[in-house]
Amino acid sequence: MTTTTSTIAPYDRVTELKAFDQAKTGVQGLVDAGIQHVPRIFINQPETIPKAPTSIELPLIDLGSTDRASTVEKIREASKNLGLFQVVNHGIPLSVMDETLKGVRRFHEQDVETKKRFYTRDVSNTVVYNSNIDLYSSPAANWRDTFFSVMAPLPPKAEELPEVCRDIQIEYSNHVLKLVVLLFRLISEALGLEPNHLGDMDSNKGLTFVGHCYPACPQPDLTMGATKHTDDGFLTVLLQDDIGGLQILHQNQWVDVPPTPGALVINIGDLLQMISNDKLKSVEHRVMANEKGPRVSVGCFFTTALAASTKVYGPIKELVSNENPPRYRETTVHDYAHYSVSKGLDGVPRLLHLKI
Ligand code: OGA
Ligand code: NI
Repeated sequence: MTTTTSTIAPYDRVTELKAFDQAKTGVQGLVDAGIQHVPRIFINQPETIPKAPTSIELPLIDLGSTDRASTVEKIREASKNLGLFQVVNHGIPLSVMDETLKGVRRFHEQDVETKKRFYTRDVSNTVVYNSNIDLYSSPAANWRDTFFSVMAPLPPKAEELPEVCRDIQIEYSNHVLKLVVLLFRLISEALGLEPNHLGDMDSNKGLTFVGHCYPACPQPDLTMGATKHTDDGFLTVLLQDDIGGLQILHQNQWVDVPPTPGALVINIGDLLQMISNDKLKSVEHRVMANEKGPRVSVGCFFTTALAASTKVYGPIKELVSNENPPRYRETTVHDYAHYSVSKGLDGVPRLLHLKI
């Protein structure tokens, strides 16, 4: 066998990951230091799935519509076929959305010493700020930094949240909690269930507020903002700024989810696909790295995530029958979230773990 000079030399990946982690300044720290090349811990295998040649129009659902039957039908179609839709007239004022994005940006751009105090891999902390929650388990690190806090069912004390964004974090989370009551009613109806079915199962009770920052990247073709994945909770409400880069996998092609002013992106997560016995689809998505930046987004994840839990979820009885038996094993949210974090974003669908 011959080797060529282009062969990538083996390197001590763990040492490099640790050095990056111990600096506690994330990707933003690399960019602030004027880095011109993407360090190899971030370098991804090239993607083989093509991008859709023409843009596909994604459903934009007007929650202010008085035609409830038509809204339910649109949500049913979108949740079944795409696993994602956007909503307008959702009740969250534009000013609140704007301030939320600004607050998250302030967090990531604040004084480094103040920000570093939140840097941790202990997910039981009230505020967890780090770069790549799965840094040590995923094949390639992503070009993004993140902070998150669990805001429901047990909200933290305001003074425990970051000073630069706590007020808007609380205000926005309260709005999203209200919006999700409506969304879960509509989705219950879309499944042919009583409107309060999903809410009664507590699937809309746990909320984690996640503030991402995707710094400008000098070599965006070499890395990803976020590798292909599905969200592991029930549902995600995503607020993105105007930079773009979010894509979903649809019919084996990547499709842009372009920023739409005033709209929120709703995506179905693994647990909703699981309890609906595949009637709803947890959408695979990713975020491209970009020369422009930073891109800021806020994900509100509806799941009790890693919190201790004993409640068991499985395919909803009303949605299974002899002809359509359960396709998944039951799980607690805690066990599934634990599996998901330990597995990391390696591109393999996590839900296979529960498949019967
Ligand atoms: C996520 C995610 C997309 C985005 O946090 O799971 O997919 O646009 N985020 O930040
Ligand atoms: Ni996601």
